[in-house]
This record gives sequence, C-alpha cells and structure tokens, in this order.
Amino acid sequence: MIIKKICILGGSGFVGHTLANRLTRDGYQLRVLCRNREAHKDNLILLPDLELVEANVHDPLQLKQQFAGCDAVINLIGILNETGRSGTGFHSVHVALTEKVIEACRANGIQRLLHMSALNADAINGPSHYLRSKGMAEDKVHAAGDIHVTSFRPSVIFGANDSFFNRFASLLKLTPVIFPLACSQARFAPVFVEDVAEAIARTLKDPDSYGQRYELCGPHSYSLQELVEYTGKCAGTKRKIIALPDIISRLQATLFDLMGFVFNMLNMEKPFSTDNYLSTKVDSVCQQNSLIQLGIEPMALECIVPQYLSKRTRREQNNHFRV
Ligand SMILES: NC(=O)c1ccc[n+]([C@@H]2O[C@H](COP(=O)([O-])OP(=O)(O)OC[C@H]3O[C@@H](n4cnc5c(N)ncnc54)[C@H](OP(=O)(O)O)[C@@H]3O)[C@@H](O)[C@H]2O)c1
Repeated sequence: MIIKKICILGGSGFVGHTLANRLTRDGYQLRVLCRNREAHKDNLILLPDLELVEANVHDPLQLKQQFAGCDAVINLIGILNETGRSGTGFHSVHVALTEKVIEACRANGIQRLLHMSALNADAINGPSHYLRSKGMAEDKVHAAGDIHVTSFRPSVIFGANDSFFNRFASLLKLTPVIFPLACSQARFAPVFVEDVAEAIARTLKDPDSYGQRYELCGPHSYSLQELVEYTGKCAGTKRKIIALPDIISRLQATLFDLMGFVFNMLNMEKPFSTDNYLSTKVDSVCQQNSLIQLGIEPMALECIVPQYLSKRTRREQNNHFRV
C-alpha cells in the first residue's frame, strides 16, 4: 500500500504533536484537523508538509471533504471527562465520531486507519463510560472489514507536555504539607509519548499490523501513590501523601462531579470525576507489551520525567523576575 498523505484527527493534542514530528521525519504529507487553528498554529505549522486545517470533524460532510486526497487516517481524538455524567459526551466523541470516520474513509476509498484507544477499553466489561465507549469505538473500527485497521491501547502516556505528571505537579504545589490522594493503589505502567509515536509510525505501512490491537506500556508498573510521590520529588514539592479510603475517594469524585458547572465556568477540566474513579478499578498495566513485539525498547519514566518537571520548577521560580 502506498501512503503519502495522512489525515490526523486530534493532531493538535499532546500525542498528536509528537506524532506529527515523528511522521514528518519519514517524509509524509500531513493534514491535521483541529477545532481552533489559531491556538495551535505556532507549534505545528513550522513542520514541513503539514497542513493545519480548522474543521468540524463531527460534521460528516466536512470530514469527507477533509479526507479527500489522503491515503491513510489516524484518529487520536479522545476525552477523559465529559461535561455531563450520562455517558453521552463520551459516546459522541469516541463512538459516534469513529462511525463518521469509518464512513468518510469509505467515501474516499481510504484503506488504512489507525485508531487510538486506551488500555482496558472494553465495550461490555469496562467499569466506566470512558472505557466502555473507548471499547465500543475500538470494536467498530475492527469490524470495518473493508479497511485495514490497527488500534493502540496505551496506559497513561508521559512526556514534556503530558497532563498526568504535570497536573499532579501543579496540584502538589497548590496543596500545603499534606496531599490527600484518591485511588492511591491503582496501578499504571506509564509509556513514553515518543514510544507511542514510534509504534504508530512503524505500523503505518506494515501489513502484519492489520487487525492488531497493540497494548503499549512502559517497562515498569507503579501504584498511583508511588507516581505522585515521585512527581513531588522531581518537582521539588514533596508532600505527605495521605491515601484516601475507597469510600472517601468515591465521595471526592462525586463532589467534583457536582462542581462540574464551576469548572465549566472557569473553562477548566474537572481534576477528578466518578468516571475517572471507576476507570481506576482495573489496573492500567499491559498483559503483553506490544512495544517489544514492534522492536521498541520502552523508555523508563525515570529517564525523562525529572527533566521536564525540574525545568518546570525553574521556570516557575524565574517567574518572580518577569515583569
Ligand atoms: N494521554 C494519555 O495518558 C492517554 C492514555 C491513554 C489513551 N489516550 C488516548 O490518546 C489520544 C490522544 O491523547 P492526548 O493525550 O494527546 O489528548 P489531548 O492532548 O487532550 O488531545 C486530544 C485531541 O482531541 C481533540 N478533541 C478533544 N475533544 C474533541 C472534540 N469534542 N471534538 C473534536 N476534537 C476533540 C483535541 O482538539 P483540540 O486541540 O481542538 O482541543 C486534541 O487534538 C486520545 O484518544 C486519548 O484518549 C491518551
């Protein structure tokens, strides 16, 4: 299969930036669809052969038009929280959009689709709306028999602009002395964003990857408490972490759910929700790490995270001297 031009949905996000850089190195032409071109143009338009287009990906007609002339599509769009609590937000972004992507691929004769899912995504047994909707979307793409599909199921992803370590670093900074932590025993195997991008790049043209669902993990697994303690150490904001009992974790999540409108008004993402709480009920660790199968040695977070968390601290310290 000849692939020259790729349309990326969600290319303006954290993984999308790294992937766009990685695919540019291989000489692909990229069309990145985003909701707000102004917000992302500084970071993305400098890449050669990258066309950044503002489009409503939920409009089937616009999607079909934007896929025209492309040989492959990569869908990275995903959300960790929805505005309400009914699951309709997750369904719209994960499932309904995926159906539109499949249809737009068919309308343009595109035969290669790479789809970003999540570890533990499961349409039936997923404990949260997030994991069930991710599972449904994954099943939809793999049921599209006329398109060569590969999906990726990462644990939490780390890298300079991640929302995991950076968010905990900010929260630790805001909390004096003691940091109450919900779901402290949940386990994760954080995977480096560049390893994720490398996996996508390697599979793009590889027929062996057709129909595969790749689990992507880092080399080690950790409890959430270990990860948050490590964050504090790297960011220079050591706090005493108090593990909240399960019932209090759930209550905290409910409280954040009820405060949803406040976060909306402040244009902020909820720091935690009942859906997040439910997602942690299954450990985010790989049964079999597909990075190894793809010939990629997974990067340990200890080699990367201190670099950006300590820089972040220096940047914040230097803010005192800025006018
Ligand atoms: N980061 C992780 O730890 C992790 C772990 C497992 C799975 N994943 C999956 O990996 C994918 C990429 O994650 P990421 O960390 O790069 O996420 P991200 O930084 O939040 O980027 C998400 C992208 O999706 C777009 N998007 C979000 N909601 C949308 C909506 N309602 N309509 C249209 N576009 C929308 C965003 O566009 P704008 O730029 O316009 O906002 C952005 O380009 C997602 O599918 C995510 O579920 C991530």
